[in-house]
Amino acid sequence: MRKPIIAGNWKMNMTPSECAKLIGELRPLVGHAACDVVVCPPFTGLAAAKAALAGSTIRLGAQNVHWAEKGAYTGEVSAAMLKELGVEFAIVGHSERRQYFGETDEGVNKRARAALAADITPIVCVGESLDQREAGETEARVGAQAKAAFKDMSAQEAVRVVVAYEPVWAIGTGRTATSEQAEETIAFIRAIVRELYGEAVAQAIRIQYGGSMNPKNAAELMAMPDIDGGLIGGASLKAADFLQVVHYSAEGTK
Ligand code: PGA
Repeated sequence: MRKPIIAGNWKMNMTPSECAKLIGELRPLVGHAACDVVVCPPFTGLAAAKAALAGSTIRLGAQNVHWAEKGAYTGEVSAAMLKELGVEFAIVGHSERRQYFGETDEGVNKRARAALAADITPIVCVGESLDQREAGETEARVGAQAKAAFKDMSAQEAVRVVVAYEPVWAIGTGRTATSEQAEETIAFIRAIVRELYGEAVAQAIRIQYGGSMNPKNAAELMAMPDIDGGLIGGASLKAADFLQVVHYSAEGTK
């Protein structure tokens, strides 16, 4: 049984006080949602967000995590640092990290494994570019990213991972994948997990869609059998929009 999970990726938006304000707007309304709801503020907003979330069922996520326990990695943040702030999820391998900050499949795997070791759930992002989709390379690219992300991970670890399928051409563009396109690729990712870990893990692992998901398209995407939630960027910055996505998603355990 898979419980849907909706995560808001706030990206490089929101000062600490703005994080607290947005959570103040969300929490009275999200309280009873039947899906997992996660907000991922920037690192600097995590402490204020945690305080604002006190007593709420909304959970806290970070937007990245480093693989080393500590040391000379200027600008990076370790899993233990996040854990102490009450962080339970960490996005890894977001396409913006891969595109602008040189993150590699190997680094994504190391970050995901470090998160798991600290009992933080990694939300591992995979997705093809427009060129790759048009060249018919979607499955090759997404399959390679997924296999690399799970490298050296046991089945017990893999089942705790959340995968986010985010076609790069759909992120922040207003151009959503059709629900059929999203379902097709997410079912393909589930098949990769089946190949690596067997049926039980494939049936249990949660795979989200991300890329211009919003109140208008969430119900249709969530109706697809393999789509277990969403990683929401732009629409997560507006309480009313995020709440609508949460409510469309709260309808069914799959
Ligand atoms: P978007 O971003 O919803 O603004 O397209 C999604 C994401 O990048 O996680």
